[in-house]
Amino acid sequence: MTLPQRAIGDLLVSAVGVGGMPMSFPGMLDKREQAVATIHRALDLGVTLIDTANIYAPSARDIGHNEMLVAEALRTYTGSADLSAILVASKGGITRESGGIFGSDSSPAGLRAACEKSLVCLEVSQIQLYQHHRPDPELDYADQMRTLLSLKEAGLVARIGLSNASKAQIDIAIGILGGPKDNGVVSVQNQFSPRFREHRDALDHCSDLGIAYLPWSPLGGSNEASEVGSKYKDFAEVGAEVGATAQETTLAWLLAMSPVVIPIPGATKPATVDSIVKSATVELSAVQQARLDATTPA
Ligand SMILES: NC(=O)c1ccc[n+]([C@@H]2O[C@H](COP(=O)([O-])OP(=O)(O)OC[C@H]3O[C@@H](n4cnc5c(N)ncnc54)[C@H](OP(=O)(O)O)[C@@H]3O)[C@@H](O)[C@H]2O)c1
Repeated sequence: MTLPQRAIGDLLVSAVGVGGMPMSFPGMLDKREQAVATIHRALDLGVTLIDTANIYAPSARDIGHNEMLVAEALRTYTGSADLSAILVASKGGITRESGGIFGSDSSPAGLRAACEKSLVCLEVSQIQLYQHHRPDPELDYADQMRTLLSLKEAGLVARIGLSNASKAQIDIAIGILGGPKDNGVVSVQNQFSPRFREHRDALDHCSDLGIAYLPWSPLGGSNEASEVGSKYKDFAEVGAEVGATAQETTLAWLLAMSPVVIPIPGATKPATVDSIVKSATVELSAVQQARLDATTPA
């Protein structure tokens, strides 16, 4: 099956990706085979974008857990997908300490060390899309972008993505790294879901600039994903009209916002990937899209 394709810089990827974060939750520790099978299912079905990060791990001791899981899934894959077409997008810039404390380190030494460790965990010599996980509040944003540029100039990463970036920060980043045509800033990954719509201005800005927009927690996150239909009845009702679940309708709604949108729902089960892939073929009318746009976040 060929999924609809969308651009990230000079690359074309499937219009929906898969997010790896929940595969590295503590409850998945004894389900590694299931997690690998989930990625294999995604590859079988034509998904060519996998989102990961160094900090997706069951604990602070296991930084790189999800990157290693993705690497293992690619290494052990025996299906027919062309692995050279798979874009693994990782991230750096957030730190983890024991006790569930998250911090930031986008200093030149901190980001370089994080990136070098990601290269090892991902088993690659260059990360094809490296996303700045979130702004470091202790540092000037432009300096953080210069550090990302140095990683690109050193050949450690091929393309840069931003995450949790405001419209103004996107502009600062482009000024230093260039835009999608330069393989500078090619993507922005911000939160967006039926519940959380505060980054609409950044999404629209990306749309204007041709920068891919990867909504994170598109279903509201692992705790809420199963409740989309009960919390947002419009999504369930429109879904019933088009023969889709509320979750598939949510992903279709995001996809219809702009051709730059590429949702990256998390998954821990192969059957979830089937549904994610189906969402890329669900078509909503303008009336249905407007109805979902108008729903009030719960
Ligand atoms: N940049 C950032 O700061 C940031 C922050 C958070 C997340 N992220 C990224 O964004 C990705 C997505 O966010 P998320 O995982 O937090 O939340 P999410 O995608 O909103 O929700 C994940 C949950 O949704 C379920 N699901 C996915 N597709 C479904 C479908 N079609 N039908 C029914 N259930 C479905 C999955 O179920 P199963 O587990 O049962 O398969 C999973 O538990 C993450 O995996 C991560 O890669 C980035």
